[in-house]
This record gives sequence, structure tokens and C-alpha cells, in this order.
Amino acid sequence: MINRLADWLDHRTGYRDLMREALDEPIPGGARWRYVWGSTLVFTFGMQVLTGFMLWFAYSPSTRTAWESVFFIQNEMHFGWLIRGLHHFTAQAMVVLLVFHLIQVVIDGAYKAPREVNFWLGLVLMQIVLGLGLTGYLLPWDQKGYYATQVSTEIMGSTPVIGPQLQQLVQGGPEYGHHTLTRFFALHAGVLPALLVAFLFLHIYVFRRHAITTKLPHRAPTTTFWPDQVLRDGVACLIVLAAVGFLAVWRGAELSAPANPGEPYEAARPEWYYLFLFRFLKFEWVSHMGEVTGLGEAFGAVVIPGALMGLLALMPLIAHIKGGHKFNVAYLVLVIFGAAGLTGLAIQEDWYSSSKDGLAFRAAVQQAHVDGERATELALSPSGIPPAGAITLLQSDPLTQGPKVFRTYCADCHQPASMAGQFTAAAQAPELADLTEREKIRFADRTWITAVLTDFRGHFGALANIKAETGSPAEQEARAKAAEAILNGGSMADWSQTNAEILKTSDGGANLKGIVEFLYAQSGKADAVLPDDPAYARGREIFENGLTLMQGDQQVTVDACSGCHTLHVRGEADEAFSGGSPILTGYGGQDWLRAFISDPAAHYGSNNAMPGFATQLTPQEMDMLVRWLTGDYYRAAMAVETSAPAAE
Ligand code: HEC
Ligand code: HEC
Repeated sequence: MINRLADWLDHRTGYRDLMREALDEPIPGGARWRYVWGSTLVFTFGMQVLTGFMLWFAYSPSTRTAWESVFFIQNEMHFGWLIRGLHHFTAQAMVVLLVFHLIQVVIDGAYKAPREVNFWLGLVLMQIVLGLGLTGYLLPWDQKGYYATQVSTEIMGSTPVIGPQLQQLVQGGPEYGHHTLTRFFALHAGVLPALLVAFLFLHIYVFRRHAITTKLPHRAPTTTFWPDQVLRDGVACLIVLAAVGFLAVWRGAELSAPANPGEPYEAARPEWYYLFLFRFLKFEWVSHMGEVTGLGEAFGAVVIPGALMGLLALMPLIAHIKGGHKFNVAYLVLVIFGAAGLTGLAIQEDWYSSSKDGLAFRAAVQQAHVDGERATELALSPSGIPPAGAITLLQSDPLTQGPKVFRTYCADCHQPASMAGQFTAAAQAPELADLTEREKIRFADRTWITAVLTDFRGHFGALANIKAETGSPAEQEARAKAAEAILNGGSMADWSQTNAEILKTSDGGANLKGIVEFLYAQSGKADAVLPDDPAYARGREIFENGLTLMQGDQQVTVDACSGCHTLHVRGEADEAFSGGSPILTGYGGQDWLRAFISDPAAHYGSNNAMPGFATQLTPQEMDMLVRWLTGDYYRAAMAVETSAPAAE
């Protein structure tokens, strides 16, 4: 039955001849492993088409939807992460396989007459594959791809004569933006694959016309493509598939933060297979030659690579000269070792050197990684991606923006311990927060309050550095005076010194704990105790009336805080202590912090050594800073955290 059906089909299509033609191609000298490269390339291209179409089903090329749709593929589509991972790593596998294919072809002399044309077709195919890699890198529209690709289009623009036009053409206008994305997508999913298919067809057609170039001496009698070589090719393809699959599962394709044209990415690097060129351009002599020849960047980026490729293309002709083949092999080995060396150098400098650039690169990569994960976390939050696009996720995220504002305006004085040695002057104020561990806020936490009460001079010790600072003389003098007053003449310093021991030891520390809890509760933070808590009640009592107790047969007293501080107790309508400054109403909470940062003197009274920021910070910056410092931002694990008992 099946036979009859096959006969029927063959009669109408002649497919059996075609199959025979394809599978019975003779291989003199027997099947060999070294012939597998071409087949693995066809196989990987097939995979790219298949996974590419699957990605296309969900991908949406626009600056407002590209990242968002890749996010969907990566996090919400069934097996989307796997498909994207396979596509990502297969692309890189193709570049590696291309190099192996080229090496095999050159060493075996398969480029010699009459196969010159096919060699050139192969070189064209190589350019197309590299072009596919380049255009694909931009499509997720994330920081990494955006800035790396911008470098490439700028290089394109440096090409002599046609550069600017070429750049405009691929960029889709004078600006790098939305139309760059749509054009790159059209190139990536339309033009280049179509060209690849066409050239691949020609390549295989011409290849079959001249038959395979076999490696001499022959080791076995002539066989046919099927089954011996097909078996080897199949095994090779499976190995490639396994390697790519392993990488896709183990590493996966990263999606960094949504592209943000307003925020340069300091670690922009092209894909690793372009690194050699990137490193080459950084050589001093290369840019020097660019200047001398008047070609600028094009000298290193276009002229030299063009010359190297040109020589590669001339190989079939060079082979006619005596010793030409040996020269060709040596040349290829040299180029590959050169490229590998440059790649190694670039990787070493970026990832292993302790130079300033290396450190900055790794810090930027780390930051991009953190931002990427954070963007994903926010996109997965119940509120999801806002209509304005994913770019706003990080722009309005206190956990991302707060530390940046802090780094710019506050970190010089309030130096994080983890950044020791990165500042020109010494710290001038207590550590408030850590920029590497962004969720460890020290300001107004229980330890902070405890230190203020029991070790005031130690806690504010950094203020002693203020006098060493230089600046506007009058201002400096006032600040230095205030610092001196806080540390040595201040009533709180004295109070702390006198009462620290009493508070720490009396009633097993319960008095201290009470006052800490009472003050902490003024912030309104989620993990504060409620007013009916015994510790809170005791703290409130001490704040209002102080403490009188017997130590041995001596009566000791702790002065009430209310004698000096103004405080309107949280949640109470009118009861307020109006002692003076510093004002402790809502201490450690958002309103207090906002007011304090705007105008510290108003809160701190005459003893103030911190400048006000009312006019320096935009409302948005202030908002991000304050919300970060008070822990007011979304966390995926938050639900779990807040249901846990209050930390103590
Ligand atoms: C020029 C140095 C300097 C800069 C810059 C600075 N501060 Fe301060 N800050 C101080 C000093 C000194 C104190 C100690 C209290 C005082 O003198 O007012 C302080 C205290 C604080 C306190 C604790 C106040 C309290 O009573 O508990 C907070 C919170 C604070 N700063 C936040 C910030 C923030 C946020 C920024 C950045 C916008 C910033 N500071 C920038 C010097 C500085
Ligand atoms: C004798 C007056 C006085 C008493 C009593 C007093 N304080 Fe203070 N306190 C101050 C002054 C003044 C400052 C500001 C620092 C300076 O100028 O020396 C201050 C600062 C503070 C600060 C801000 C420190 C910071 O983080 O920048 C806190 C919190 C505080 N006091 C809490 C208390 C509590 C709680 C009590 C009672 C247990 C108390 N104080 C008792 C005078 C007093």
C-alpha cells in the first residue's frame, strides 16, 4: 500500500531521483569527521529559522514593546526562555562552526580552482551570519544590546565616503531609536535570512557540481554520502545541539534592563566574537594611524578588517603561486591566533585586571545585572508593566533611583563603609546606607537609635572631620562650629554619656529597649510595635517623665527627653511635647526625612552641620531618596517578610 503510494508520488514528482542524487553522492576515500562542518552549519541555520519563528510569534518590534515582549517570552511564554536560549547560543555556535569550516576548507585546499567561486560564496555567507548576529543583538532593546549596537552603527558611520549615508540607512534616520529597531528587525528576520538561503542554495549547488574535496591520502574505498557520512554529520549535529541546549539551560540568555537612552551604559561591549575588533580599535597606534591617514576610526574599524578579508578572498588566486597554499594556511592561522589573542586580551582587561577601567567595567556589568533583575521583578509585580512602557519601571523605582541620588548628593559625607577609600576626603557624618547592599538602611533603625542614645559621640564621631575640610570660609566655619558643639558642647552628647550605663543595665536593658521601641514606632514603619505593647508604653513614660530608680542605696535619675525635644506622638490627636529641637515628630519616617533633608537647620536647631537640599533635589529625586531610605518600595518577597514577626 505504502509502496504504491510512493510509486504514485514518484511518478508525478520524480522525488526518488532527487533523493538518490542527494544521498548517493560519492565520497572518495570514505566518510570522515572532518567533512561535518558544512552540515552542522546547515543544521544550526535550520534551528535558527525554527526558533526564530517561534520567537517571532511573540516578539513586537517597537521601543515601547520590544523589551516587554522579550520579557514575556522569557518569563511568561511556555518554554519561551528555552527557545530564546537556544536561539541565543545557536547564533554563537554558528560563528564558531563557521571558523572551523573555514579552517578545514583552507587546510584541505578546498578553495582552489575550480572551487574559487564557492569559496567566495562561503565568505559572503560568513558576512551574512555575522550580520544576523549583529542585528539580533539589538532586538531585545535592553541596555546591553542598545549601547553595544550603537557602537557598531557609529563604526559603520565612520566608513569613508558612504559612511554617514550607510549609518542613516540602517539607523532609519539621523537619530538612533525606534526606526533603528524596526529596520534591524526587518534585516534580521527578513532580508538577511532570505539572502542567506539564496547564497546557501548557490553554495551547495556549486559544491555538488565539483564534488567534495577529499583529504589525501584516502584511507578507505569510495563510499556514498548515505549512510556513512550522514551518520557522522548527524552525530556532529547532535553534539552541537547538546552543547547549545546545555548552555541554554545552564546560563540562559540574559535580558538586562530596558534600554534607556538617558542613562549611558558604561560597559557597552559587542558580542564576544566582535571583541577582537573592539580591542583592536583601542590600541593607541590604531587611532594614531587613523589621524595620520585622515580616516579616523574607519582606519581600524573598516580599512584594516577590509584588507584582511580582502586577502582572505584572494586565497584561491594566491594558491596558483608556488608555495601559495602554505602561505594561505599560515595567514589564516595567524589571523585566527591574532583575533583569539585580542579577544583574550579584551576579556582579561575587562574581567581580571584591577585597573580602573576593569573595575569600572565590572561595576557597570554588576549594576546592569542588578537593574535587569529588578526590572524583571517589577514587571512581574501585581501592577505589572505600566502603559508608558517598561522603561518607567526603573525610573520610578526607589530601590534603583534612591541609591543613585544618594551617591550624587549624600555619599561624600555619609560614606558607606563598603566604599572605604573611594573618596577624596574623610567621612563627615554617620553612615546612613550601603550602596552595594541597597536594602541595608542604617538610618533610624533600632541599632542607630540605640547608638544615638548610648554612644552619641561614637555615633557622630565622623563630625570631627568637618573642621579639616576646605570650602567657602564662612560656611565652613559655621559648620565646624556646629559640629564641635554637637560633639563636645552638645546637651545630647552629655545626656548620652551620663545615662548610657543606667539605660543599658537597669531592669535588664528593658528601659533602653522601651525607649528605642517608642521612638522607632514614631516612623510608622511596618515592623514597629503598637502603642499597647509594654515596651512602647514604658518608652513613652520615660520620654515624658524620665526615670528615677535606685542603684544600691543611691537614687539616680534620667532626665526626660521631653525637656529638650519636640514630639507629637504618632496616632495621638493633640498630645505633644514641645521641648525644642531636634524635632522628633515622625522621626525616621518619610515626612520627617523629607523635611529634614530639605532644611536640616529647621529640625536640628542651631547645632546643625548639614547643608539643606530644598533647592538642589528635584521633587522626583527627593521622593526616590526618601522612599528608598525608609524602605518604601516593592519587593517580590515582601509578602513573606511582613508576615514574619517583627525583627528584633
Ligand atoms: C556636607 C556633608 C553632608 C552632606 C552632603 C549630607 N549630610 Fe546628612 N548629615 C551631615 C551631618 C554633619 C549630619 C549630623 C547632623 C547635623 O549636623 O545636622 C547629618 C545628618 C543626617 C541625617 C541624620 C539626622 C538625624 O538627626 O538623625 C540624615 C537622615 C541625613 N543627614 C541625610 C542626608 C541625606 C539624605 C543627604 C543627601 C541628600 C545628606 N544627608 C547629605 C552632613 C551631610
Ligand atoms: C538635655 C537635652 C536633651 C535631652 C534630655 C535629650 N536630648 Fe536628644 N538631642 C538633644 C540635642 C540638643 C540633640 C541634637 C544634637 C546636638 O545638638 O547636640 C539631640 C539629638 C537627638 C536625636 C537625633 C540624633 C540623630 O539621629 O541625629 C535623637 C534621636 C534624640 N536626641 C533622642 C532623644 C531621646 C529619645 C531622649 C530621651 C531618652 C533624648 N534625646 C534626650 C538634646 C536632648
